[in-house]
Amino acid sequence: MPVLDWTEPAEAPVMLVLTQPSAADFAGPEPTGLGTIERGGARVHVDDKAMINCRADVNQLLPLKYTWAWEKYLSGCNNHWMPTEISMQADIALWKSPNGLTADERRAIKRNLGFFAASESLVANNIVLAIYRHLTNPECRQYLLRQAFEEAVHTHTFQYIVESLGLDEGELFNMYREVPSITGKASWAIKYTQSLSDPRFETGTTASDQAFLRDLIAFYVVFEGMWFYTGFAQILSLGRRNKMVGIAEQYQYILRDESIHLNFGIDVINQIKNENPHLWTPAFQDEVSGMIRSAAELEASYGRDTMPNGFLGLSASLCEQYMHFIANRRCGQIGLDPVFQLTENPFPWMSEAMDLKKEKNFFETRVIEYQNGGSLGWD
Ligand SMILES: [Fe+2]
Ligand SMILES: [Fe+2]
Repeated sequence: MPVLDWTEPAEAPVMLVLTQPSAADFAGPEPTGLGTIERGGARVHVDDKAMINCRADVNQLLPLKYTWAWEKYLSGCNNHWMPTEISMQADIALWKSPNGLTADERRAIKRNLGFFAASESLVANNIVLAIYRHLTNPECRQYLLRQAFEEAVHTHTFQYIVESLGLDEGELFNMYREVPSITGKASWAIKYTQSLSDPRFETGTTASDQAFLRDLIAFYVVFEGMWFYTGFAQILSLGRRNKMVGIAEQYQYILRDESIHLNFGIDVINQIKNENPHLWTPAFQDEVSGMIRSAAELEASYGRDTMPNGFLGLSASLCEQYMHFIANRRCGQIGLDPVFQLTENPFPWMSEAMDLKKEKNFFETRVIEYQNGGSLGWD
C-alpha cells in the first residue's frame, strides 16, 4: 500500500513520492487516529472502546459507548451564543462615570477579567495540546472539539469587553504574569499540562496514567470547577446589584458552558477510574485531596488580594467560605471525602444564575444573521 513521503528534492517543486510501507506500518490502529490506515481491519465493537490506552480505531464515532459524552456535545451545541450579541451600553456608561463604581469594585472587576482573560486560553491549550491526544475515545473527542470552540468564544468575550470598555489590553492580558495571586493559580495548574504536552509523554503505565488523571483534575475540577466559580460569583453578585449587567450576562452564558465542561470532566475522571481501578490508590486519593486543598488556599489568597476591603454582598471571607463549600462538593463528585469542614453555601443565588430560562430568553429576541448575502461573493 502506498504511503505519503514528503521528501523534498533540492531545487525542485514539492512533490509526493509514493513508497512501500514496512511491516511496522501494519501494527493496527494507534491511539492518535493518525496512524497508517489498516485496510480491511476489524470493525469497532462497543466493547473495544475505552477512555485511555485504547487500540480500537478512534476515527469511528459509531457505535457510541459513552452516551453521556455525546449528550454533552449536543447540549453544548444547543447553547451556542456569541459575546457580541450582548449590549455593553450600560456597562460603558457605568465604567466611564466617575462615581459609578467604587475603587474597590473597579479593582475586583479588573482582576477578575484579568484572571479569566488568560485562563480561558490556558484551558483551551490544555484541551488541544495535552488532553485530546491521550483521551482515546471518539465521542469524548467530539465533545473536546466543541469545548475547545467554546473556550475560543470565552476568550473572544474578554477581547470584546476590553474593546467595549476601552481597558488597557496589555494590563489585562498580562495579569497572569504580573499579579502574584493570579500567577500563583496559573503556575499551579500549568505544571500539570506541561508534563502531558511533552511530545515524548505517553499513557500506558500506572505513573503516566496517573499523570493524565492529575491534569484532568487540575483543569476540570480545580480550574474550571472551583476557581471559575468564585470568579462567576464575584461578577454575578455585582450584576444582582445592577452593576456591569452586560458582563454579568456574558458570565451567565460562560457559566452555563462551564457547568457542562465541569460535568464532562467529572464523568471522564470517574469513567477512567472505573475502567482502571488500580490507578485510584489510597496514596493517589490523598494526593488529589491535597491538590484540592492547596487550590482552595490559592483562591483564598487571590480573594484577599482582589477584595481587600470587600463591598456590598461580597468579601474575601465570603469567597473563601464559598470555595470551601465548592471544594467539598467537587470531592464528593469524584468519590473523595470532604477536605474542609462542612459549611453553608454563602451564595445560594448562584444556582439560580445558572438557570437561564428564568432570565429573558435572548435566543428568542436576537436577530439570526450569521451570514448575510452581501459578504458572499460567487463571481
Ligand atoms: Fe471557558
Ligand atoms: Fe471551560
